[in-house]
Formats: sequence, C-alpha cells, structure tokens
Amino acid sequence: MALRPRSNPFAIFTALLLVLFLTTLAFHLMVPQRVPGAPGAADLHAATDLLLKVLGGFILLVLLYTVFARIVRRDSSPSTGIVKDNVFLDVVARLRDKEHELERLRSAAEERAREIESYNENILRSVSSGVITFNREGVVTTFNDAAGRILRLNREDVIGKTCAEVFGVNSTVAGLLNRSLSTGEAITREEFELHLPHGERIWIGVSTTLLKDREGGLIGTTFVCTDLTEIKALQEQVEMRERMTVLGQMSAGIAHEFRNLMGTILGAAKLVARQTPPDSPVHESIQTVTHVISDMDHLITQFLNFARKTDPDLKLVDMGPWLQRVVEQVLEQVPPPHPHVEVTCFPDVPRIRIDEVLMRQALGNLVQNAVEAMSDGGRLTVSAGLRPPLGRRREVEVRVSDTGAGIPQDRLGKIFLPFFTTKPKGTGLGLALVHKIVLLHNGRIDVESQERKGTTFRILLPIA
Ligand SMILES: Nc1ncnc2c1ncn2[C@@H]1O[C@H](COP(=O)(O)OP(=O)(O)OP(=O)(O)O)[C@@H](O)[C@H]1O
Ligand SMILES: [Mg+2]
Repeated sequence: MALRPRSNPFAIFTALLLVLFLTTLAFHLMVPQRVPGAPGAADLHAATDLLLKVLGGFILLVLLYTVFARIVRRDSSPSTGIVKDNVFLDVVARLRDKEHELERLRSAAEERAREIESYNENILRSVSSGVITFNREGVVTTFNDAAGRILRLNREDVIGKTCAEVFGVNSTVAGLLNRSLSTGEAITREEFELHLPHGERIWIGVSTTLLKDREGGLIGTTFVCTDLTEIKALQEQVEMRERMTVLGQMSAGIAHEFRNLMGTILGAAKLVARQTPPDSPVHESIQTVTHVISDMDHLITQFLNFARKTDPDLKLVDMGPWLQRVVEQVLEQVPPPHPHVEVTCFPDVPRIRIDEVLMRQALGNLVQNAVEAMSDGGRLTVSAGLRPPLGRRREVEVRVSDTGAGIPQDRLGKIFLPFFTTKPKGTGLGLALVHKIVLLHNGRIDVESQERKGTTFRILLPIA
C-alpha cells in the first residue's frame, strides 16, 4: 500500500516551539547574571529566564497532549500511526467508491427491470389469446386485455381476487386451477362452455402452464385461453347442415313412398264411394278420408319442396331498400293488428350476394313468426349491420326482433327441426326452411329469446 506524505501542522508547531526554546536557552546562557546594584544586562537575563519557563511550559503541555491523545486513540505504536491513518483514509475512499458503484448498479438494475416489465406488458397486450396468471393461493396476478375481451371482465375487477370469487367455486376454471396446482401438471388443451357471471355463455379453449421459481418450486399457474364461441357455432352449423342433408334425403324417400300409398288409399276410397248408394252414410266417412289424405298430400308436397336440392341464384343486392320492400310485402299478407315496425340498415353495410327469392322466403317466415308471437301488437325491428370480422370472414348481420311471447329455453334447441310446431295449424317447416336457405348462402343463424319479453333471430351472411 503506498504511503502518502502527511503535513501535520501540529508537528510543525512543536518543532518551532523547540527551536524557539533552544535559541532562547542559548541566548539566556550568554547573558550575564544580575549583580545586585548593577543595571543593564541583568534585566535581559531575567526576561529570557521568564521566556524559557513559558516555552518550557508550552512544550510540556504539547507533550502531555500528544501522550494523552495517543492513549485516547489506544495507539501504542506511534511509529505506525501515519501508516494506519493512511490505510483508514484509503479504506474510506474505497468504500465510498464501492458505494457509488453499487448505487450505479442498482439504478441500472432498476432500469432493466422496468424495461423487462414494460416489454412483458407489451407482449401480453399484443397477444390475441387471453393470459391469466394465478399465484399459489389462486389469486389473479395478471390479466391481459385479450382475457378481458374474451371473458367480458374488467382487469381492475379481477386482479387481487381469487379464482373462486371471479368464476365461482364450482366453475370449470376453478376446477382446472385446482387440478393444475394440486397435481403440478400442465394441461395442454381443454375446451368447455363457460357461464359468465352476467349470464352469458361462451366456449373457450384453455391451456395451463406452471410457474416455477429458480429452485423449481411451484409459485402459480398461467392460463392461456381463446374464444371458441364463433368457431363452435360454425362447427354446429356445418354438423347441422350434414345432418339435415341426410335427414332430408331419407325423409324425401319416405315421403314419396307415403304419397304412393296414399294414392292407393284415395283410389280405393273413390272406388268404394262409386259402388255405394248415394244416400249411404258411408259417403260421409269416405269424405273425411279424402280430406285427410289431401291435407297429408299438401304437407308432403311442402316437405318435398323443403327437402328438394336447391341451387341459389346469387345476385348483388343493396340491403337497405331490399329489406324495406320485403318487410312491407310480408306485412301486406298478414291480417291486422299489425305491430309497430322499424326497419334500419346501417350505412356501412355493403352490397351482398343473395338469392332474392329464397332470402325473401326466409325473411318472410321470420317476420310471419314474429307477428304471430305478438298477437296483441308490439314492436317488430328488422335491421342490417356490419359485424366485426371473424378472422378473414366479413359478415353482414340481419336481425329480426319482436317483443312477443318468447320461446322457453328448453324449446330453443328444437325450433329449427322440421315439423316442430306449437301452433294448431302450423307445419313446423318455416324455421327449418329459413335454416336451409341461410346455409345455402354459406351463412349462420342463431336465436336469443326471453319468455314474455321477446325473440331475436340473427342471420349472418358472408360478404363475398
Ligand atoms: N318469433 C317467435 N316467437 C315465439 N316463438 C317462435 C317464434 N318463431 C318461432 N317460434 C316457435 O318455433 C316454432 C317453429 O316455428 P316454424 O316457423 O318452424 O313453424 P310454425 O310457425 O309453427 O309453423 P309454420 O311456419 O308452418 O306456420 C313455432 O311453432 C313457435 O313455437
Ligand atoms: Mg312459422
């Protein structure tokens, strides 16, 4: 360790005192002693004597102070004192340097942490999948924007709450979280229907991964979820279309057979009528048989029309005026009282390709049903608007809403089936035909209904 020379003002002062003392002593020895009665040099001798005593006293005081200071500092080795002081100063200086270095490193680490945090936040914000993290206690610690969109929840309402509080103790999400936390295993992909707190039902796909610390200890779970509602709806439509095709082909065959058999029955009944005297009561029964058979024939004809393979003749149509025209035409054929009618087409709706005749039939059936559901009047709203894109698919949404009787939940799944009707004179083919026509346009249809409040049918047609 290099020793730095030290200029100690105290040592200089002591040395000066000593020099002064020695000079005064020499001078004092040279001055003759005082002879009683003789004047002159004798006074100088007395003066140097006094100065010597004063300087001697000072020097003594300085020595005493030095000894005392050493004792106080417990320094028994005066020869290494300077070295120790220098070492001490050096250590202090190095510590100060280290402190500055540490401060610099700390702010650099903080800056880096902030960068990583905002980087992570940007990633979470830009992914289209919902990302939710739970800690070991099942409390939500991260909830990105996409999760909020998919689950229709606000981040602020969810962060800090437990999974059970947000989704319910017996919810599928809580079950998945318990499973992944208790088994310590990641779940690759689960698809399930989720009942949201405000009553909505959505389909989501969830994968979970485990969050671990450096030592491998489990600290939580990450859920990555995607909204499958629209995809499921499309899948259902495709499955339904396939089922309907098979059902249509089968039933058309059976209907033809029935028609042939009914022709035989009708022929036989006419033969019996001819061979029976005109005043016989048998004629009445034969008439009943003839009426029933012609009703059945009408039904079968309608069904065969429904089941017949149809190729739509697609043309570009301007939705606004077309909707207005169709609703007016349908209402002209409906006996009063008419409901209050509102037809709207949003200006952003582009022209779309439809078969005008088929689509008029579909919309007509929906309007007819709506009017029939509002026997005491009510409000009928028909509208066309642009839907938010579904992947690359762009769609126009046509809505037909009424404020009528509504459809009970347990009946909703059956209304599109052929022959399902709750009306005494209904065929139950109206909605089945609507469904078929929508599928022919490569579209989708769904329904929302609340008893005694009303029903909304939604047709989604692709924009070519
Ligand atoms: N807007 C609506 N409000 C309430 N119930 C409806 C509505 N639309 C349809 N339904 C129900 O769905 C059933 C099936 O309707 P669909 O149009 O297929 O046959 P229908 O109307 O009964 O008979 P058809 O159309 O041959 O006259 C109806 O009987 C009715 O119970
Ligand atoms: Mg109908």
